[in-house]
Amino acid sequence: MISRRNVLTGLGASLLSSPFPGVSRADTAPRKLALPPLMDATKSGAFALNAQHGRVNFLGQSESQTWGFNQPFLGPTLRVATSAEARADVTNRLDEQISVHWHGLVIPGDVDGGPHQTIAPGENWSPVLPIDQPAATVWYHTHTHGETARQVYNGLAGVLQLSDGLDDDRGLPSTYGVDDLTLVLQDRRFDQRGRMDYNLSMPDRMMGFMGDTMLVNGQVGATAVVPKGIVRLRLLNGSNARIYTLMMSDDRPLQLVGTDTGLLDRPITLQDLTLAPGERYELLVDFGDGGSVSLLSGQNTNMGMMGGGMMGGRQPSGPPFEVLPFEVDPTVVARITTLPDDLGGSRPDMDPVGAHKRNVTLDMAMGPGMMMRGKGNRFSISGQAFDMSRIDMSVARGEMERWTISADMMMHPFHVHGVAFQVLSENGRPPKAQNTGWKDTILINGQADILMKFDRPASESLPYMFHCHILEHEDGGMMGQFAVI
Ligand code: C2O
Ligand code: CU
Ligand code: CU
Repeated sequence: MISRRNVLTGLGASLLSSPFPGVSRADTAPRKLALPPLMDATKSGAFALNAQHGRVNFLGQSESQTWGFNQPFLGPTLRVATSAEARADVTNRLDEQISVHWHGLVIPGDVDGGPHQTIAPGENWSPVLPIDQPAATVWYHTHTHGETARQVYNGLAGVLQLSDGLDDDRGLPSTYGVDDLTLVLQDRRFDQRGRMDYNLSMPDRMMGFMGDTMLVNGQVGATAVVPKGIVRLRLLNGSNARIYTLMMSDDRPLQLVGTDTGLLDRPITLQDLTLAPGERYELLVDFGDGGSVSLLSGQNTNMGMMGGGMMGGRQPSGPPFEVLPFEVDPTVVARITTLPDDLGGSRPDMDPVGAHKRNVTLDMAMGPGMMMRGKGNRFSISGQAFDMSRIDMSVARGEMERWTISADMMMHPFHVHGVAFQVLSENGRPPKAQNTGWKDTILINGQADILMKFDRPASESLPYMFHCHILEHEDGGMMGQFAVI
């Protein structure tokens, strides 16, 4: 029996393959995809998150020990207003320290939730988040130095919607779980008894963790049920390292309406979309023809120089695999049936003249001897591995910064805290269409130039981070920290 679990590696991949070993898709009615519960704090301005232990039976076999916020695995979708204070109340009911970073929120360093702001077991952290930025889909996750990868893998992540309540005027679908779907994409591995597994091999440490089973919102083998019309997909790549190349199984277009930190001015029609760890994109897909269709992804392309002989058998070849099947429910009346043309968002168009220039290199120690090295500093940024006690730079508040980021061995999703940036160029050419909106994470495939202005302060004791969002790379030292003064 071919299992869905083999699909990711391309071994015997078939779209008809079963979600569970030993159970074929035909034997079971499709399970409807559930969305994370919505926690709407737009009125109250307050929300509470409890990090807690859970047990989840992902595959219909043994239960896995998991972590979540307010639930067994992952966290609720928080909805907060775009310009108001949000009072967070985070309690750590786990038995190790965690932190909660608001990835995509442009807020001061003292409430950013990075590795200097850990919450000890049993403790509580209640930051006030002074939010003032455009509508977007951002997210939150733990950010403990050296432990982020395992802690996120266990489930400490969730989506945060910045909402201005104007989606009706924009003609955008906005009914949570009906025509507005939050989709957290993650890949996982399971042991023989079906328990979620995070054991890193040497290639996992180098390339980042790759699972063989697809999870959407923490579910394996579920089907999204949608109305006959236009549906908004808010995609988050919450995987530790996997890069998705998303497309529809019948090649119907993807209309890009939002990037990491904001809506676009108007939709961009795409055939496929690259989604790297940490990135969010908002798409509109037209299900008006009523037919069933699937969201697919190409195999992970981030093999770098490892794709060849050395790591034999891990080539990025193989057919696309299924991320999420869709089924149209004809009894649900779609609210939106035509594509909006004016989204009321923007594309950054800042002036790079006079910007303060910096070079950032994303370094991996490769070559002879690298396999032999112990837990040493395999990863670094601009020649230095992350050090909690070293501030790597100081940036002037309110001034334009232009960073040239380069990577040679592999692609690295580069993320900067405390800002939304403009991608000026990729490898000397204008940015890819999907990178023309406001971003906080960009997949560096060679070199990219980004332009940004830091408006919020971050002290040397509670600095911002910049790092690779392949979590094994981040934990391995591909991270730096800076103050905004
Ligand atoms: Cu999504 Cu520094 O993190
Ligand atoms: Cu972040
Ligand atoms: Cu990396």
